[in-house]
Amino acid sequence: MPPSQPFVLHDRFIDRLPIPQHMEPYGHRKGTKLYRLRAFEFSQRLHSRLPPAKLWGYEGKYPGPIIEAFRGEPIEVMWANHLPTTHLFKIDPRIHGAMPPTPDVRIVPHLHGSRTSSPSDGLPENWFTPGQSRRYFYPNEQPAATLWYHDHALGITRLNIYAGLSGFYFLRDKDERAMDLPSGDYEIPLLLQDRTLDIAGQLVYAPTHEDGRELPPGVWGPEFFGEFAVVNGVVFPYLEVEARPYRLRLLNGANSRFFDLYLNLAKSPTDIPSLVQFEQIGTDGGFLPRPVFLTRLLLGPAERADLMVDFSRLEGKTVTLSNSALSPYPGWSTLGAGRAPLYELMQFRVKPTTGESKKRFGVNRLFLQLEENSSVTTRDFILSERLDAQGRSLGVRINGKGYDDPVTETVKLGTIEKWRFINTTDDAHPMHIHLVQFQILNRQGFDPIALRNGCLQLVGTPRPAAANEAGWKDTAVVNPGEVLTILVPFESYAGRYVFHCHMLEHEDNDMMRPYEVVQEPNRRIPGGSSGKAQ
Ligand code: C2O
Ligand code: CU
Ligand code: CU
Repeated sequence: MPPSQPFVLHDRFIDRLPIPQHMEPYGHRKGTKLYRLRAFEFSQRLHSRLPPAKLWGYEGKYPGPIIEAFRGEPIEVMWANHLPTTHLFKIDPRIHGAMPPTPDVRIVPHLHGSRTSSPSDGLPENWFTPGQSRRYFYPNEQPAATLWYHDHALGITRLNIYAGLSGFYFLRDKDERAMDLPSGDYEIPLLLQDRTLDIAGQLVYAPTHEDGRELPPGVWGPEFFGEFAVVNGVVFPYLEVEARPYRLRLLNGANSRFFDLYLNLAKSPTDIPSLVQFEQIGTDGGFLPRPVFLTRLLLGPAERADLMVDFSRLEGKTVTLSNSALSPYPGWSTLGAGRAPLYELMQFRVKPTTGESKKRFGVNRLFLQLEENSSVTTRDFILSERLDAQGRSLGVRINGKGYDDPVTETVKLGTIEKWRFINTTDDAHPMHIHLVQFQILNRQGFDPIALRNGCLQLVGTPRPAAANEAGWKDTAVVNPGEVLTILVPFESYAGRYVFHCHMLEHEDNDMMRPYEVVQEPNRRIPGGSSGKAQ
């Protein structure tokens, strides 16, 4: 197969940013709203100068429709596989879980960030094939947050999400309502991704080696970086905004790419940047203890940020959502290795406001800070990469193990544990744990030589979580040469779950492990993330 010819894009910011539609339930059963989300193959234009791309999407949309749920009101979703039996992309049959005779087309949805029982969690091995469906139950018993649903099929998650299988799930609650934040047209979901297209407008999935060199078609590579920014399913879009405050709900839904974001008033990415300050009010799992003013924001794959941006004084101006993250991130080992960074994502064009708008919003909350000494045990996870003689990746591992190795982590329900991720690789890894929301305790260096001799020696001063990470998280970045320590409360459900790196290429091969929560009757965490703030 000849490699597809790349499409060179000259026309940026000519397509309007689409806002995904909200999903309506099709019925009710005893207080539970019932939804149906069917995965279809369909065509949709990603850029107005290109033919429509063949995609996969929930309800035939990319991104999928937004599900809005309310705390305390459970919903049930019937997930149905209406896809054809041929995959959009070539599958690497050497990846665990994707080996023959496994069918090529299989899906399993996961609600990322949700506290869900194990049978509804969308474990990677619980995939189902075209013609099949599954009913999953979501209790919505946790604080308001930006959750998202996406595919999780073992060994091909990177391909299924790249094909278009992801969408937002906004969980709301009374506290959020009381804050009276900008809503309706003034609350904008932004799914940030990167895609490569050929001249026919079709998606190209061409992962690379760490040095940027290409691989034969269909062969797993340690990362994928697309040439174009795609926001809410459109290449380099723009949005007209009024000169007033907006709430922006950001999600990094890229396969491998980190975004180091800023809002830039400068005309071109090569001009000296002129930064617009913004406020971060929420993280993955809900609102921050206090809002934080920022001019930059790092988002690894799967991380979310709830932002307030005030365009009031910017009437007539164009603000470009810009990015300075190198890829792979942080790019220390590959400086100059020749993969073009994605400097720009989208534009905001500020027009006059149509009415009066409030400027101050009640965002002060009480927040339950976990205590380090509440942890009952500490677990260490060494992140490593296997390299061939040329220094190319053969896959990534957690404690030298892959997904199919037996469970080694058995956690007691109702306890808090300290988990330490020790990164011996050159890349940062966004580590994600199902079922839970955790808190970052700190980041610290370690002695690599001592580690090789089997001993974790922390060096340097531990750095506590940055103010904009000091909330509930379900995904957190582990920098190269560092240890990330988190405090994790395991609540609500016993059962089998997983944790993994959320760079999808890593997750598929094979930086993912199962873990198990077991019931121990007489224990309860006082408070925890499910509790009301005290
Ligand atoms: Cu975004 Cu295992 O999930
Ligand atoms: Cu998840
Ligand atoms: Cu990784």
